[in-house]
Amino acid sequence: MMKPYIQLKNITYCYPNNSHLAINNISMTIYTHQFISILGPNGSGKSTLAKILNGLLFCDEGVVIVDAIQLPEEREQIWEVRKLVGMVFQNPDNQLIANTVEEDVAFGLENQGISIDKMRIRIDEALDKVGLTSYKTVEPHHLSGGQKQKVAIAGIIAMKPKVIILDEATSMLDPKGRKEVLQTVKQLNENENITIIQITHDMQETLLSDRIIVMNNGELLLDGPPKKVLSKRELLHSIGLDVPLASELADRLREKGFPFSEDIVTEEELVRELWTFL
Ligand SMILES: Nc1ncnc2c1ncn2[C@@H]1O[C@H](COP(=O)(O)OP(=O)(O)OP(=O)(O)O)[C@@H](O)[C@H]1O
Ligand SMILES: [Mg+2]
Repeated sequence: MMKPYIQLKNITYCYPNNSHLAINNISMTIYTHQFISILGPNGSGKSTLAKILNGLLFCDEGVVIVDAIQLPEEREQIWEVRKLVGMVFQNPDNQLIANTVEEDVAFGLENQGISIDKMRIRIDEALDKVGLTSYKTVEPHHLSGGQKQKVAIAGIIAMKPKVIILDEATSMLDPKGRKEVLQTVKQLNENENITIIQITHDMQETLLSDRIIVMNNGELLLDGPPKKVLSKRELLHSIGLDVPLASELADRLREKGFPFSEDIVTEEELVRELWTFL
């Protein structure tokens, strides 16, 4: 059962030293258990939106409601919001600061008034959920990029979040690292009911999600299930975005007279229909 978890009502944001709006009148509801991808060209406001969702920035106009906490009005509850909505950033090397993996995961838990015993349990659980139990005492700089991002994710999980936002968290990783991180977040979404919001430029990655939001010029351009959003090929192309390879191919073949369905997005779907034309 999906319930509304974050609500944005007519939010607007302008950076103090900037003349145009980074976020221009966006309203939307994010539900529990969703897996959302946010797409959009450079400078379209994706990272700004992410920071507003977890209280790193406060909107100038409008209201953000996270788990019944209203921002910016109830800004004294900002630490609670940051606990509920965790963020993973692009560069794995900027996110780990401690001497060992377990100390890094512990970092956010300190100052939370949790007993040492409970902290240990939380750390072990978090490392187990990202599959890094055996790396507990390893120094973070010995890890691969993908493993570093998973430690960052474990640090968030230890705080018992409801939402994890990944801001291009896989873009600096090699294909193996990408796959590891994506599998991890997919499992957290499915097994732990954590809402995932991933900002990405990778069309294939959006196919993991059940909802795609496309931003352009600080505005919400498209919002819906992947098949619906990705079928707007011309609109996406017009703002400089690609569509998945399978959609593109189906499109070209359709022009050549093969009656492919409009909503093909995965290679499996393409192949399945291709067979019927032989
Ligand atoms: N710290 C800042 N100070 C001033 N303007 C900023 C700042 N950060 C972002 N902006 C501006 O706000 C707008 C939205 O930027 P944002 O970083 O949210 O875009 P984005 O969609 O995340 O882009 P990218 O794909 O490059 O990461 C852009 O016009 C950008 O120039
Ligand atoms: Mg960004």
